[in-house]
Amino acid sequence: SGDQLSLTPPMGWNSWNCWGVNVSQDKVISSAQAMIDKGLTGHGWTYVNVDDGWVSPQRAADSSMVPNEKFPDMKGLGDWLHERGLKYGIYSSPGTLTCGGYLGSYGNERKDADTYAAWGVDYLKYDWCSYERIAASDTTLETYVKPFRVMQTALQAQPRDIFYNICQYGLKDVWKWGGANGAQSWRTTEDIEDTWESLLQIGFQQNKLYPYAHPGGWNDPDMMIVGQVGWGENLHPTRLTPEEQYTHVSLWCLLSAPLLIGCDLSKLDDFTLNLLTNDEVLAIDQDPLGKQAQRVLQTPAYEVWLKPLEDGSHALGIFNMQTTTNTVSLPWKSLGLQNKQQQVRDLWRQQDLGTVKDEYSVTLPPHGVRLLKIGK
Ligand code: DGJ
Repeated sequence: SGDQLSLTPPMGWNSWNCWGVNVSQDKVISSAQAMIDKGLTGHGWTYVNVDDGWVSPQRAADSSMVPNEKFPDMKGLGDWLHERGLKYGIYSSPGTLTCGGYLGSYGNERKDADTYAAWGVDYLKYDWCSYERIAASDTTLETYVKPFRVMQTALQAQPRDIFYNICQYGLKDVWKWGGANGAQSWRTTEDIEDTWESLLQIGFQQNKLYPYAHPGGWNDPDMMIVGQVGWGENLHPTRLTPEEQYTHVSLWCLLSAPLLIGCDLSKLDDFTLNLLTNDEVLAIDQDPLGKQAQRVLQTPAYEVWLKPLEDGSHALGIFNMQTTTNTVSLPWKSLGLQNKQQQVRDLWRQQDLGTVKDEYSVTLPPHGVRLLKIGK
């Protein structure tokens, strides 16, 4: 059932940030194959999600949605993924058109959900874009919720579980109603970009949403902008520095965010691979308690985020918000941790730092992070 579908946040890949609407079945398969060949699947990476750009302009005579020439065989793609233990994600919009101008599901929701289920789809990202025109000047909450409830009903009528992502950019506080309308995750903001400013506007603004994340329903601050990105037009290595990338992945794990890689996996470099395969870091995201971190300290120089874990310990992220090197000293008391002594483990380095008394000090590079496990 819906509550059991995503007891921990989903992990996978999505086509949008590297391919944009220039996605194709071949590109999806080559990314999925790279996910296997590079060993990502052994670290929990599972979903392979086709984003906008796959639908043909005309429905079939029976009004079912059909793929365009870039996707010769949607059912075959699903089978290919399932044979390899992967999961199959797809994308549509509640409006007449998607954001990229492809056909949406408006008025055909049940038909489309039936089609997706017949293809073996495991995940639906349901975007907002052109529904704005249908909603027009009616900005009541009900108008915003309704199209997502219609698709929820259509999905629930299917013989298979389909993870449901409401991609509605945080409008009308979607975190308050997404879960009740069948979603396992809901986008909290507009699209992320591979810049520090975007990380500040999206990742570091998620603090107030911590009460809404729980096993079965997750705040989605958008995809991870690591590796080769560029919307299919100007593919380039992420503009985030290596330190900013550690910060990005650390923050997403502290936030219990869905982890969706957005890059071209067939061009995965060793640095990015290491970033995505540190099991101790990923375990923070996948911790079964499913609580989102809270920001416990904030100054212009640094931020500290604390996430309670299932075994009674905590994950702690100390972030340098400045473009200069900074030393941060944190008395345990300032974090609300009562014990004078704490066991400390550095998760990126997978290294025990032993018992630390009274306070912890660290020198961080520009926009750098230290991700720790405290106690146990
Ligand atoms: C807007 C979403 O936020 C993006 O992630 C992507 O799905 C595009 N729409 C597709 O058009």
